[in-house]
Amino acid sequence: KIAAMIGAHLHRAFGKRFRPTLLLLATRGFGAVSDESVLGAVVVELIHTATLIHDDSVDKSLVRRGLPTVNSAWNNDVAILMGDYLYSKAFSILVKNRMYEAMDLLAEATHRMSQGELRQIEQKNRLDLTEAEYMRVIEEKTACLISAGCEFGAFSGGADPEARQAMFRYGRAVGLAFQITDDIFDYLGSENVMGKAMGSDLEGGKITLPLITALRNASDPARREMRAMIQNREFRNGHWGDVVRFVTENGGVEVSEERSSALAREAEAELDHVKDDVARTALTDAVRYAVTRRR
Ligand code: IPE
Ligand code: IPE
Ligand code: MG
Ligand code: MG
Repeated sequence: KIAAMIGAHLHRAFGKRFRPTLLLLATRGFGAVSDESVLGAVVVELIHTATLIHDDSVDKSLVRRGLPTVNSAWNNDVAILMGDYLYSKAFSILVKNRMYEAMDLLAEATHRMSQGELRQIEQKNRLDLTEAEYMRVIEEKTACLISAGCEFGAFSGGADPEARQAMFRYGRAVGLAFQITDDIFDYLGSENVMGKAMGSDLEGGKITLPLITALRNASDPARREMRAMIQNREFRNGHWGDVVRFVTENGGVEVSEERSSALAREAEAELDHVKDDVARTALTDAVRYAVTRRR
């Protein structure tokens, strides 16, 4: 019964499927897509979905993929167990199919993702958070899974060790750029388009690159005023627009966009190893998509 419930939920609430797409393209870049790479793609999306279900429970988010989250439609207990159900299913698929390389890469990635999410909780409400500390968290919570997926895709297509490493670095740069873009959306996006709530990072004490940059660039009085507004949570009482203006006017959006574009160029530069032209073009488009997408 629980499995049917989870299955129905996954069918209704599906996302962009960005990670499995990259994995399959990475395979295509070096060889033919096989059952193994398709299973790898399935597993990566299962792991991703599990982390989103847990993330929404931790963040107390109500909407995801345009639908109520598991924690809001059911409750936190169900979210914990549904996430675990998907994680364990993902790894049991790998074991059953003797996919040891994928197990190695994805066990490590999943472990680091948990570290990132825990580190983020430790850093909650830290208005003095540095860009380096922020980058470390997004590398762990987001880039890790994408880089592991890309590396596995390349491995599965028969890439040599050097090309495999290049695809790992490609995935890492794409992942970082993808998360920075998501963090910009939290200030500028709209819930209707994104299918999830905006403004929720600050609400939940997540200090992200747009705000870190704006706080660094602002004049002393403006910075003091904004810090106070955030600390006494005034921004929730009709002052959200002031926060968005502060972040925008102090270069928070512009600099974050520059960072994500630079990472996108870094990712593109790793694609020289890719043998197949069609796959290389699609992987180049995927980089552009990661930073110019509207949801
Ligand atoms: C959301 O990931 C979590 C982040 C890393 C920003 P996606 O934006 O890929 O979510 P879905 O899978 O398309 O819903
Ligand atoms: C990404 O962080 C979450 C994971 C990588 C699990 P966010 O908390 O920004 O993701 P959204 O915005 O809820 O999708
Ligand atoms: Mg979240
Ligand atoms: Mg977000």
